[in-house]
This record gives sequence, structure tokens and C-alpha cells, in this order.
Amino acid sequence: MESFYLADLLHSAETPFYWVGALVTSLLSLWLLYKLITAIRIWVIGNGDLLSPKLGKWAVVTGATDGIGKCYAEELARRGFALMLISRSQEKLDDVSQSLESQYKVETKTIAVDFGGTEIYTKIEEGLEGLEIGLLVNNVGISYPYPEFYLNIPDLNNFIYTMINVNIMSVCQMTRLVLPRMVERSKGVILNISSASGMYPVPLLTIYSATKAFVDFFSRGVHTEYKGKGIIIQSVLPFFVATKMTRIRKPTLDKPTPERYVAAAVNTVGLEYQTNGYFPHAFMGWWSAVFAPIDLVLYLGMKMNKAQRGGYLRRRKLR
Ligand SMILES: NC(=O)c1ccc[n+]([C@@H]2O[C@H](COP(=O)([O-])OP(=O)(O)OC[C@H]3O[C@@H](n4cnc5c(N)ncnc54)[C@H](OP(=O)(O)O)[C@@H]3O)[C@@H](O)[C@H]2O)c1
Repeated sequence: MESFYLADLLHSAETPFYWVGALVTSLLSLWLLYKLITAIRIWVIGNGDLLSPKLGKWAVVTGATDGIGKCYAEELARRGFALMLISRSQEKLDDVSQSLESQYKVETKTIAVDFGGTEIYTKIEEGLEGLEIGLLVNNVGISYPYPEFYLNIPDLNNFIYTMINVNIMSVCQMTRLVLPRMVERSKGVILNISSASGMYPVPLLTIYSATKAFVDFFSRGVHTEYKGKGIIIQSVLPFFVATKMTRIRKPTLDKPTPERYVAAAVNTVGLEYQTNGYFPHAFMGWWSAVFAPIDLVLYLGMKMNKAQRGGYLRRRKLR
């Protein structure tokens, strides 16, 4: 009698179960389809000619004499922007400027400043006076010479001051100088180069990682404030790229050349306001966010950087 009752109950629940299952499957399929279309849009089709001088004649790039910044400058010159290059050494700025002018036939200007200080922004403001700026790349950034425990960082007081000025102050101040005229013209793009190290704390690179988390939060906050005024502010979070900073000499698929990285990253502007910029990095970012619990990320980060620190200190002792 009881088993008959149970069978009857299961039978009457069959139809609702069927429809709940069908609904969940349809929603999941729609979600997967949406993700696939979004991925194709970002990583295959790209944003067309969004990054063009229609935004404004000039592009400003900080840290433009090497690595990722130099590649942004080249890519933007190729797209027809006039370039304002800002970096530390006038000699290197002149080299990049001449190469862009002869290769892409675009106008360039330079400002030599050290972003490690804070007294430079009047000079930059004067240099930018009267320019129609369509795009700013806040790229300048420094990292540690080697991974180190917070209290053992050589010349810690100066290190803190310099790193916060270069990695954080520059982003806030350059945005202060450039954004008002973009807002007046209701168009403009600001690309802030954060880092995948800003996605989670990275032990033994703690200050660097924290400055990059600041850049990411700053970018996403200001983007939300100004997107209604026609401005795009993108937070770019690369994993390793083979540049002077990382001392990676042999590029691989997951540690690309800066040229390859930038060529991918520029196509994500306007499609993602926070991006890892390059498909293999986006996959790594997604994988770690979904599958790696934060305690594991901290543990592995500490282990990896401790090994690197040991190697660096041993090599230094040997020299
Ligand atoms: N490479 C990576 O794997 C990676 C990963 C994630 C995020 N990032 C970020 O990407 C950005 C660029 O990194 P990168 O690897 O291309 O670095 P890089 O090869 O070391 O180039 C840095 C650029 O910034 C300039 N610069 C450095 N300190 C400066 C200062 N105090 N004042 C003015 N200019 C200064 C350098 O000029 P000089 O040539 O005169 O030194 C150079 O042009 C940084 O914000 C970095 O944090 C890089």
C-alpha cells in the first residue's frame, strides 16, 4: 500500500521535474552561448576602429620608452594618433620619438620626468596644454628587484615612497590632468595598466601587488562614474609579459612579447572594462578565480617567490 503511494507520488512529480530540468538546461545553454558569443566578440572580432584619432588627435603614454608602454605607443602611432611620450630619460624618449615619426609619419612630443617624485605634474600639465587628447595610457610602473619580506626590503622608506608615487600617484594625477577635457568633449579612453598581481595579494611582492589592486579599483570606480559621459576607463591586468621588468628573455604562449600582448589588449577596449588583455591570460585569470581558493593562491605565491628570492640571494652572494 505504502509503495503504491510512493510510486504514485513520484509519477505525479515527473512532469514538474521534467520542466525544472528543461528550464535549468535551457538557462545553462543560453548562458554558455552568451559566453561563447562574448568571447568571440572580444578575442576574434575585436572592437574595429574604436581606438582611432576620432577620439582626439593625441594619445599620451607614460613609461613609453620600453616594454608594454613602448608597444602601446607603436600600436597607437600605427593607428594614426599623434604621440605624447612621457618617461624618465630624454635620450630614450628621443629614440622612440624619432622611430615613430619616421615609421608611422605621425607627430610626437616628449616630456622627461621621474614619476618617483611628486613635483612633476605642473611640468606635465604645461606640456599637455592645448592638446586634444583622445587617449591616455597610464602604463608607467615599477616592481621589486627581487621578491623580499616587507621589513627586509633594502631602503624600505624610500622604496615605499617611490613605488606608491610611480604606480599609484601617476595614475591619479594623470587622470586628473586629462579627464576634464575628455568630459567636456564627451569622448576619450583611459587605459590603466594594473597587473594580475592586483587580483590577489602576492606575498614577497606585497607593495607591488597592493599598488596594482589600487589601480584596478580606481579604474573600475572612475569608469562607473564617467561611462555615462562617453568616457571608457579600462583596467588592464596582464600576467607575465617578456619585458625588462620581468627579465623573461624567451617569450612563450603564456609569457608573450609586449608586441603580442598589446596587439591583443587594444582589441578589448570598449568590450571589457576590466581585462587580462590576452586570451591565454584571460583563461588563466578565469581558471584561478573559479578553481583556486585564495589560501592556495597565497600559499603557492609565497612558495614560488621564496624560491625566487633564495635563488637571487644565492646568485648575488656568488658574484
Ligand atoms: N611585464 C609584465 O610581466 C607585467 C605584468 C603585469 C603588469 N605589468 C605592468 O605593465 C607596466 C609596464 O611594465 P613593463 O614590463 O613594460 O616595464 P618596463 O619594461 O620596465 O618599462 C617601464 C617603462 O616605464 C619607465 N619608467 C620606469 N620608472 C620610471 C620613472 N620613475 N619615471 C618615469 N618613467 C619610468 C621606463 O623608462 P626607463 O626605460 O627609463 O626605465 C620604461 O619606459 C607596469 O605598470 C607594470 O607594472 C607588467
